[in-house]
Amino acid sequence: MINDKYFLVLRNSIKHVLFLLCVFGLGWSCTKQEEQQSSQQTEGNDWNSIKTAFQDTLNGKETDLFVLKNKKGVVVTITNYGARIVHMVVPDKTGKPTDVVLGYNSLKEYLDSPSAYYGALIGRYANRIAKGAFEIDGIAYQLAKNNGNNSLHGGPGGLHNVVWDVVSSTSNSVELLYTSPDGEEGYPGNLDITVIYNLNDEHGLEIYYQAMSDKKTVVNLTNHAYFNLNGDGSGDINTHVLQIDADEYTPVDSTLIPLGEHEKVDGTPFDFRAPTAIGQRIEDPDAQLQTGGGYDHNFVLKKGQTDSPEKVATVFSPKSGIQMEVYTTEPGMQFYGGNFMNGLQGKNGTYEYRGAFCLETQHFPDSPNQPSFPSTILEVGDVWESATIYKFMLKTE
Ligand code: GLA
Repeated sequence: MINDKYFLVLRNSIKHVLFLLCVFGLGWSCTKQEEQQSSQQTEGNDWNSIKTAFQDTLNGKETDLFVLKNKKGVVVTITNYGARIVHMVVPDKTGKPTDVVLGYNSLKEYLDSPSAYYGALIGRYANRIAKGAFEIDGIAYQLAKNNGNNSLHGGPGGLHNVVWDVVSSTSNSVELLYTSPDGEEGYPGNLDITVIYNLNDEHGLEIYYQAMSDKKTVVNLTNHAYFNLNGDGSGDINTHVLQIDADEYTPVDSTLIPLGEHEKVDGTPFDFRAPTAIGQRIEDPDAQLQTGGGYDHNFVLKKGQTDSPEKVATVFSPKSGIQMEVYTTEPGMQFYGGNFMNGLQGKNGTYEYRGAFCLETQHFPDSPNQPSFPSTILEVGDVWESATIYKFMLKTE
């Protein structure tokens, strides 16, 4: 008889293969015209020289940049330094290639800004854990505090600042692996993490995560892409129109730790159930907007946790005509409106205050200390899984 551990691994391997079949089976029927359009639309970026600027050796491991292309003119680049999304080039309504994510054009710039989370895979715990402390089965764990008295985004040596191993890569996908050793940044258990980035021909970047631990631990992984659908470095995102399928959000204290309860969005600036410009209510005298310095809150997604990714949000920029949809298996999503941005130089100009938004699919912040939130515990022998898709299209108003 198959024991529980092997059953789980087998079950998850089958799910993994099914997921990949589904992913890789999409959209093979592109025309020659679309292929020509694709090569034209990527003109303007010299991918070979940008790739060279990411090729180095750090702590004995090679770093690189993987250029993924689909047949509809979308280019996504991923570096194995921090498993980061570096570029996401999408045609706008005039056909102009538009890079909709923030970041840098060289590894050196990422190394020089270790707490810039641009496009990074965040873990082992996305967002904040109060006082960097939690207990599992009566054992206390202390993490590094890197955000006032709290731990943020896995700590200073989190997954955004490590070199991932490259398992495989194709013209439109890359699979990365990292084993975070027991005790790294204070977290228990050797944690094996894999992530697959797959750019499909439906204009979607699919991100699929798996993790296993040899000790009971907590896990909450996300991607921290900063989006500006008018192109990175092209001003603030106040006119972007956002819709989120959430009736509730989790209000926070002055250190951005959830208070524990769910608050209804009805009648508040957090009600994005109907499409609303991000900047429309940003100056409202709302106590939570003031506490967060703007939007920096976890939304309780109406669908809850699901086995396959479901649509939870849509963002549209009338200026570029680019629309992005977010699909996820996760029960929560952090909507961060770029309130801490302060004029850093990026790939294409200056990243000003509220010059990007993030929609970080996740379990809720501080769940290890909040018994009423969905659990982030990973048991030995279980496989932690999560999937998110950022899908792009053009929309006419
Ligand atoms: C998340 C947090 C924000 C901020 C950004 C990174 O979205 O919720 O408070 O720390 O990451 O700057």
